[in-house]
Amino acid sequence: MEFKVFEDKESLGKALAECLAALVKQKPNAVLGLATGSSPIPTYQALIQIAHEEGISFKEVTTFNLDEYVGLPEDDPESYRTFMRKELFSSLDFMEGAHHFPSEENMKDYDSMIDRKGGIDIQVLGIGTNGHIGFNEPETPFDSKTHVTTLAESTRHDNARFFGGDINAVPKKAVTMGLRTILGAKEIVLIATGKNKAEAIKKLHDGKADPSCPATILSERPEGVTIYLDKEAASLIA
Ligand code: GLP
Repeated sequence: MEFKVFEDKESLGKALAECLAALVKQKPNAVLGLATGSSPIPTYQALIQIAHEEGISFKEVTTFNLDEYVGLPEDDPESYRTFMRKELFSSLDFMEGAHHFPSEENMKDYDSMIDRKGGIDIQVLGIGTNGHIGFNEPETPFDSKTHVTTLAESTRHDNARFFGGDINAVPKKAVTMGLRTILGAKEIVLIATGKNKAEAIKKLHDGKADPSCPATILSERPEGVTIYLDKEAASLIA
């Protein structure tokens, strides 16, 4: 596992976007695993800019998102489908049908859908303050596949900012890729910015796989995992 520390979230986003753009240039039919949340936004913005400047096409690219709330209509302003459309998909030339999100309907088949596309080339991850990746909350079994999960109270609290600050408006359940699904990606990049992520990053840096901090499953993979941090998220490991 490699840790890279950047001056700020913009330079982090640019570095990771260059990596994603390089993959798509080299493999036009790449399969991307994508994340929502505030952490990947600078990366998506930089990727759009690079793609436009360099004329990189995403026509053959397939995407699989990590997670989605249960019970929100597809076009709800806070659904992860809406987020992705707004922050990335609508600004690039993806084909219709290129995007996949886990749902209660497809969750039993989601891992096979990924396999049938040849597997995920790069999986982008954020991390929750409690160490969750996707919506795999503490104590999720390390061998989990795509499944329905009950959100931790702390996660609903963290995400209330997207729902007008009202925790009661935050769905109680979500469908998420499992930890084993995530670990199956050929390459994994995790983004953490801000002081509130420093504690979880310290646990990840300690290198011991511990179900109480789900992201630590990444330490089971010595190769192909890069952690992108800003100075604040890295403050306890320096
Ligand atoms: C959300 C998402 C995760 C994301 C995390 C961090 O709940 N399900 O995929 O990584 O929380 O969010 P943020 O980047 O906004 O801090």
